[in-house]
Amino acid sequence: MSAEADQVDGGRRHFLLVATSAVGAVGAVATAVPFLASWRPSARAKALGGPVEADISKLQVGELMKVEWRGQAIYVVRRSEAMIAKLASNKANLRDPDSAESDQPDFAKNEARALKPEYLVLVGVCTHLGCAPLGKFEPGDATVAADWPGGFYCPCHGSKFDLAGRVFKDVPAPLNLTVPPYSFGPNNTLIIGVATGAA
Ligand code: FES
Repeated sequence: MSAEADQVDGGRRHFLLVATSAVGAVGAVATAVPFLASWRPSARAKALGGPVEADISKLQVGELMKVEWRGQAIYVVRRSEAMIAKLASNKANLRDPDSAESDQPDFAKNEARALKPEYLVLVGVCTHLGCAPLGKFEPGDATVAADWPGGFYCPCHGSKFDLAGRVFKDVPAPLNLTVPPYSFGPNNTLIIGVATGAA
């Protein structure tokens, strides 16, 4: 039997799972990074850690959605053209700009680290000691740094990642955030756990 649930994370490190049949969003629309998620793992798929399917039709530009896969949070960000264009300017400040040492499917070994540049899909686990990085997408976010280009910030020990999940130099995290295997299905679905049949 299929089950649907929304996963809501107010930006903190814990997850609150709320059983519901609708896709939900939490957070102030204009200022905070809202979170919304839905997934439809079968009971068997969940037990085996198999692929999960997420409806991304309601994900707006600049939003972060979290989907649970294999007991970990998968971050899905719908990036704007400006977010994508800015990635090139980060290169000199990154530890592994070409993702040579980091973990991702072959299709994500590019600057956007994505199958479709518009959608960034990452394992939401810091490569230092496993905390959950926060989405800090606003350039110049004072809670990170005045020259912050936008990306992810890990509050545990201060690791910083750009909007492709690439780690900046001089932080404790050694590698870029992992890109899981994924593909796109029909009707605006994202299938996490399967890299084949990608659209
Ligand atoms: S766990 Fe993220 S910086 Fe240490």
